[in-house]
Amino acid sequence: MNSEKSEALYRRACRVIPGGISSNVRANWSPLPLFYTRGKGSRVWDADGNEYIDYVLGRGPLLLGHSPANVIQAVQIQLEQGLMFAGQTELEILVAEKMCELVPCVEMARFGSSGSESVHAALRLARAATGRKTVIRFEGHYHGWFGNIAWNFAPPLDQAGPRECTNLIPSSLGQLPEEGAHLLVLPWNDLPLLENVFAIRGKEIAAVITEPIMCNWGAIRPLPGFLEGMRRLCSEHGALLIFDEVITGFRVALGGAQQLFGVTPDLATFAKAMAGGMCVSALGGKADVMRLFGELKTVHAGTYNANPPAMAGALAALNLLSENDGAILKKAHATAMALMQELEEIAERTFLPLMIRGVPPVFHVSFLPKDAKPVVDYRSAQQTDFALTRQFWMELQNHGVRVTPEGLWFVSTAHREQDVDQTLAAVVEVIAILEKERRNKS
Ligand SMILES: Cc1ncc(COP(=O)(O)O)c(C=O)c1O
Repeated sequence: MNSEKSEALYRRACRVIPGGISSNVRANWSPLPLFYTRGKGSRVWDADGNEYIDYVLGRGPLLLGHSPANVIQAVQIQLEQGLMFAGQTELEILVAEKMCELVPCVEMARFGSSGSESVHAALRLARAATGRKTVIRFEGHYHGWFGNIAWNFAPPLDQAGPRECTNLIPSSLGQLPEEGAHLLVLPWNDLPLLENVFAIRGKEIAAVITEPIMCNWGAIRPLPGFLEGMRRLCSEHGALLIFDEVITGFRVALGGAQQLFGVTPDLATFAKAMAGGMCVSALGGKADVMRLFGELKTVHAGTYNANPPAMAGALAALNLLSENDGAILKKAHATAMALMQELEEIAERTFLPLMIRGVPPVFHVSFLPKDAKPVVDYRSAQQTDFALTRQFWMELQNHGVRVTPEGLWFVSTAHREQDVDQTLAAVVEVIAILEKERRNKS
């Protein structure tokens, strides 16, 4: 793979942009963070002209593929009408109405530009609504990079503490201990532990926030009864249940993971798939809670909130996803399912411990020892052979298939059978390379 131009751009970028990247999440790419020039449908091209079948899809927003025509057209129309007004547009009503129609918990919605912001709004609202301080979050879940929630995403296991009494570990230098002071961090998928915590501290808990599928550590599903138990405990103790559906929203079902699992939270955050690649996020939920923002004592603000071109993109994306009873989303699910099944078959044929798990159209491909215990939370996910998973990713990139370095694959409505066939051919070649290396080593 030729990366001369990307290398030159990277050197230039490093002079004026710290690390040469605008989000630390992009640092993890080898041999260097590549530069991209164009994307269309399921494909993306880098600065050196290399073409990839893209399963990164902007880390999720491009559920409709790169440059979806209807989103672009809707945005263009709005660009001609005006970029922003610091005032309302009908577009935001239409997007909120659409969300109310599709998502079980949404009776009202407020908009922002990033998932982190909407999570921030959710936490503030939950504390304002309950008059309580403590928020329960789960180890290994990602809810954005803000100081009051970015804790224990990837704690080193030797510092994480006992399961029932985890140590608070910030994600970044510069976070103050006070910012995490009102967080309780628990391992996920452990209902008895959550029950215990509620039994002891139930009166002080404002909210429980969870990814309903643990996408950011390998697309781990909730164990049967876990989300239901969480719902029950929150209701019994007067705490709010917040689903962070920034990845799952409008993707695993039109109504998100809450619809898929039949568990309705009080509040939910959305971004990524809701706007076809435009910068939009949303907080939605029960009207009696959301109304607090309208009473103005609880502040939610932002110059770019409900930005008209972004709202036009969101409306176009949601309309397209939901027309004909979600026909194109069903097609993306079928494509992802076919891909997952074929990958499973490859996994059965190789002696390498290839593991596929997830909920279409987002799934995780990694290497896990054959005798590994079930992966149900952050700690058990650490059994992953990260070095081999990373090598698999790098070889796939060399073979024109782009997935996230940690092994998460997103499938779009633009992926076709030909993409799947080409991807599987690349996977077979890459597995053969890795098998040969393993044999040579032993
Ligand atoms: C579940 C979840 N919540 C929140 C966020 C933060 O969203 P953003 O990067 O738009 O701030 C992310 C980002 O990946 C996410 O996956």
